[in-house]
Amino acid sequence: MSDAHPAWLPPAAFTTVGGCRVLVHGGGLLVDTVFDEVVRACATHGGQARRTGDRHPAPSGVASGVGPSTPPGRAGAPPSPSGPAGDAVDLILAVRGAEPLPAPAARADDGEPLDDEGFLLTRADGLTVVLADTPAGLLYGLFHLVRLGAGALDVRATRRHRPALRRRMLDHWDNVARHPVMGQVERGYAGGSIFWRDGVALRDRERVRAYGRLLAACGINAVAVNNVNVHATEARLLIDRLDDVAWIADVLRPYGVRVHLSVTFAAPVLLGGLPTADPLDEAVRRWWESATARVYAHIPDFGGYLVKADSEGQPGPFGYGRDHADGANLLAGALAPHGGVVHWRAFVYQHQQDWRDRSTDRARAAYDHFAPLDGRFRDNVILQVKHGPIDFQPREPVSPVLAAMPATRLAVELQVTQEYTGQQRHACYLGPWWSEVLRFRPWGPDGRTVADLAAGGGLVAVSNVGDDPFWTGHPLAQANLYAFGRLAWDPGLDPVAVLDEWIGLTFPPATTGDPALVRETLHAVLDDSWRTYERYTAPLGVGFMVRPGHHYGPDVDGYEYTPWGTYHFADRDGVGVDRTRATGTGFTGQYPPPWSQVYESRERCPDELLLFFHHVPYGHVLHSGVTVVQHIYDTHFAGVAQVEQMRRRWRRLSGVIDPTVYERVAERLDEQLRCAVEWRDQINTYFFRKSGVPDARGRRIH
Ligand code: GCU
Repeated sequence: MSDAHPAWLPPAAFTTVGGCRVLVHGGGLLVDTVFDEVVRACATHGGQARRTGDRHPAPSGVASGVGPSTPPGRAGAPPSPSGPAGDAVDLILAVRGAEPLPAPAARADDGEPLDDEGFLLTRADGLTVVLADTPAGLLYGLFHLVRLGAGALDVRATRRHRPALRRRMLDHWDNVARHPVMGQVERGYAGGSIFWRDGVALRDRERVRAYGRLLAACGINAVAVNNVNVHATEARLLIDRLDDVAWIADVLRPYGVRVHLSVTFAAPVLLGGLPTADPLDEAVRRWWESATARVYAHIPDFGGYLVKADSEGQPGPFGYGRDHADGANLLAGALAPHGGVVHWRAFVYQHQQDWRDRSTDRARAAYDHFAPLDGRFRDNVILQVKHGPIDFQPREPVSPVLAAMPATRLAVELQVTQEYTGQQRHACYLGPWWSEVLRFRPWGPDGRTVADLAAGGGLVAVSNVGDDPFWTGHPLAQANLYAFGRLAWDPGLDPVAVLDEWIGLTFPPATTGDPALVRETLHAVLDDSWRTYERYTAPLGVGFMVRPGHHYGPDVDGYEYTPWGTYHFADRDGVGVDRTRATGTGFTGQYPPPWSQVYESRERCPDELLLFFHHVPYGHVLHSGVTVVQHIYDTHFAGVAQVEQMRRRWRRLSGVIDPTVYERVAERLDEQLRCAVEWRDQINTYFFRKSGVPDARGRRIH
């Protein structure tokens, strides 16, 4: 295994599974993976692993039928699916297929289909049984047992599990060549890339395999391996550097993770020497078809393309007088015969706006561009929409695009990498935020949720992983990656329960000095950390008071007079963006009722989004009963106090957990406190100076 931190798969997480007599039944690459996992766990924890039902046993390595830990007395006896071997096991993991199931599994089988990635967990004849229709389902079933820990042998009710969202995908914003401004990983806060370094493919098999394993264990099944901003070196992955992509696909395949590639819309010109990339040009169409056929010749299970077009300087169909349906359909047409999809991003806006121009509202842009195109996209186009209308701020409303495109497959894009949420120097558990987004009902309480709307497309997130020994820089940021996968599998999960799972797996009780203290402390530090972050940063949904460029730390007016469209409009009387239909940009009209009315109304708009939708006087009284300016002071003092408390709580774990984890987190909490104080003082001072309103509680403002 890689010497990277084991994250949520330390050997101790396999104590129960590895202590059992396990029978794995079925054939295929992913069943081999399941069997390998079980063999390894049993070798560590004293159990026994056997295998049946594999018609094409692996030519070398572990033998099909009898695992290496089988006691000598039983070694030569091939296990019989229905015979005594069935009685000698505690746990069966079986794929339904051509081979007859072992007897207890056959008795547990109700014949109902389990879908491509689903599994059934039940108890039969005193055994725990996992049944799946596919090897992938079996792999997810195995990792479910790992999560259950001792509970894997105490299954009381039969339960079927299947992912709510078909594609659960991470986008790596990794550059192959180090970018002069953005570095090796754009918005990466965990060292370099695990795939690329200084223009070459790293081909670190152990690391990439360990990554695939972690992804499978939280339910992720797809990865885009390069940045959406496709620069010159990265463009070549599609053609002459395809072997590098195929290598990653080979290493991730045993864990059921398919590879996708970000491509540049200008590829026919840049790589093919054509005079144009016009999506309606016949030669361009043929070029994409043949390039795509080559990709599939190298990578038969290739997932598809990811495209950022006409966005922040990337080329796109607008350059040829075409629209985004023309552009997306071109690539979709090339992918369709091979079963691939194109993830086409909806992050399209005017990034060279004149700040004096009040008629242009960046929040409106994605809807204005894409809603009119609903119904024009091919079936294998997935429109990938950022969850909020602006850009991954710690608080935004849900993007209205999600409710505006009933005839289009949609994927929702989240940001696991903490660009605007503390850059993995701040502990900020984002599960509760994503959960709010996924449960949001654009048509009100009786309508569908955002998660329902994404069921046909998927959930996508920008990865927070790098070559850092802890994978994510901040060890506690691992929880965000884990939670993303789990919520993509089941958006109905309680994010605090997901965190609890993560704690149990990552800090197994047997490996810490005081399991109860560890659990309690991690909850105390992380449960509310996203709201804490929100308290000490930009207030009431107004967003973007960060340092331009790198986006870390406060700079209230940093973006106020720039072309980026992210303004707060604070003056001596008030603050916030008027996005109403009555007097503002009209953005509220992009929502269906009831939200179009709720957001339009100052009185009904939720406090936490007030400044996103309204420009209000500092004396405006919130639902909470305090004025806007007093809310700003109160939350900023409270946020810092909470970070101080997080730091105090963490110190109690000194000597209780792995010292390297302890130290890394302790050091980051020091920085979080320093930065939170800076946020508090800059924000409070700014609004005090603008408004002249003193803090009702007389605290120190500079
Ligand atoms: C943000 C981020 C960029 C990124 C862009 C995107 O604006 O700062 O680095 O390229 O989002 O999502 O494409």
